[in-house]
Amino acid sequence: MIKNNIQTQDNKQQSLLFTPLRIKGVTLKNRIGVSPMVTWQAVDGIPNDFHIAHYGQFALGGVGLVMVESTAVEPRGRITPADTGIWNEEQVEPWRRITTLIKSLGSVPGIELAHAGRKASTSVLSYSSKSMATDCENGWSTIAPSAIPFGDGIDKVPKEATLDDIEVLQQAFVSAAVRAVSAGFEIIDLHFAHGYLISTFLSPISNQRTDRYGGSLKNRMRFGLETARRVREVIPKSMPLFVRISVTDYADNGWDVNDSVEFAKQLKAVGVDVIDCSSGGVVNDIMYSTLNPSDVQHKASAQIQSEAGIATTAVGKIVDPLKAEALLRDNSATLVLIGRALLNNPHWPYTAADLLATEHTFKYHVSYDYSIGWHGFYNWRKNMQNDN
Ligand SMILES: Cc1cc2nc3c(=O)[nH]c(=O)nc-3n(C[C@H](O)[C@H](O)[C@H](O)COP(=O)(O)O)c2cc1C
Repeated sequence: MIKNNIQTQDNKQQSLLFTPLRIKGVTLKNRIGVSPMVTWQAVDGIPNDFHIAHYGQFALGGVGLVMVESTAVEPRGRITPADTGIWNEEQVEPWRRITTLIKSLGSVPGIELAHAGRKASTSVLSYSSKSMATDCENGWSTIAPSAIPFGDGIDKVPKEATLDDIEVLQQAFVSAAVRAVSAGFEIIDLHFAHGYLISTFLSPISNQRTDRYGGSLKNRMRFGLETARRVREVIPKSMPLFVRISVTDYADNGWDVNDSVEFAKQLKAVGVDVIDCSSGGVVNDIMYSTLNPSDVQHKASAQIQSEAGIATTAVGKIVDPLKAEALLRDNSATLVLIGRALLNNPHWPYTAADLLATEHTFKYHVSYDYSIGWHGFYNWRKNMQNDN
C-alpha cells in the first residue's frame, strides 16, 4: 500500500498523459483523446441533440481531444443510413453547435472524415449481423477500387471506380475538409482504415486495378497520398492533419506494418502530422479474437514513430491509466485514443488524474472542482484518500 502511494507520487511528478501536447497551432491540454466511434443516430447526416449530449460528456469529462465519429464525405460513403455527414452546408451549423460546446469545455474538437467504399449501405438495424441496407432504408450503390464485394453479409458488388470517379471522390474529401474547418473543427483525421474506401485502395487484396491506382505499392498508395495532399492544401497551415490507417490486414499477401511505415513516411512528406494506428477490416474472415490487435497496433505505432519520424496514436484496449502512461513513456505513441473505456466512463480522465495528475496538470471543470476537485469545499478526493 505504502509502496503504491510512493509509486503514485512518483508517477504524478512525471505524468506524460497530463503533459499538454502542441501539434502545429493546436494545443491539447492532455494526451487523452476520444477515439472516433460511430453512433448511428443521425438523420440525413445531420447531428442532433443526441450528438450534443454524447460529445459534450467527453469534453466535460476532461479529455484533451474529442474526435467525432466517422463522418461521411458524400451520401454514398455512409456505412449506414444513420451515419453523420458533412457533405452539404445544412450539416455545418449543427456541427458548429457541437464544436462550440467542446471548445467551451476546454477540449479540442476533431472530426474523422470517411468514405465507406464497398462497406457502405449496410443496415443500421442489423449491422452486427452485417446485412445490406434494406429497400425501406433506401440502400444505395457502392464504389471501390475493384468490383469485389467484402462478403460476410456485405455482399453488394461495388462499382469499380473510373478515373473520373476518383476525382469526384477526392474532391468530396476536400470539400468536406473545408466544411469541417468552417464548422469549427480544429483537427481532421482522414479515415484510411478498416476496409473502407481508401483502405481498399491500399490493400492488394481489395485493389486489383491495372491502372496507376493499382498494382505496385506506389500505385496503391496514390489515392490516399493525393487525397491527403489535397486536403492539406485547403485547410489552415496551423491545423493538424491525422490519418487513421490499418497497420496490417492480418492476411498473407495483404497490407502489412512495413507498408504502413513506408506510407507514413510519404504521408509525412505531404504534410500529415499524426498517424493514427488501427488495424484490420479489409478481409472478412479474420478471427480477431485469436489475435491481439491492441498489442499489434501499439507495437506498430512505436515502429512508425521511430522509423517514419512522425507522431502516432496508440489505440486499443487502453483502460488502465498506468498503461496509457506507459505507452507514452516508452515512446510507443505521442498521444492515446480511447474508445470503449470512455463510453463506459466519460470521466475516465478523472480516474486517471487520481493516479497521475497534480492540481497543476489537471483542472476539474469549475462546477465539479467545488465538490470533487483539488480545491473542493467538500474536498471529496482528499477525504476519500484519508478514509482509505
Ligand atoms: C462503438 C464503436 C464504434 C466505432 N466507430 C469507429 C469509427 O467511427 N471510426 C473508426 O475509425 N473507428 C471506430 N471504432 C474503433 C475505435 O475508434 C477504436 O479504435 C477501437 O474501439 C479500439 O479502441 P478501444 O479498445 O479503446 O475501444 C469504433 C469502435 C466502437 C467500439
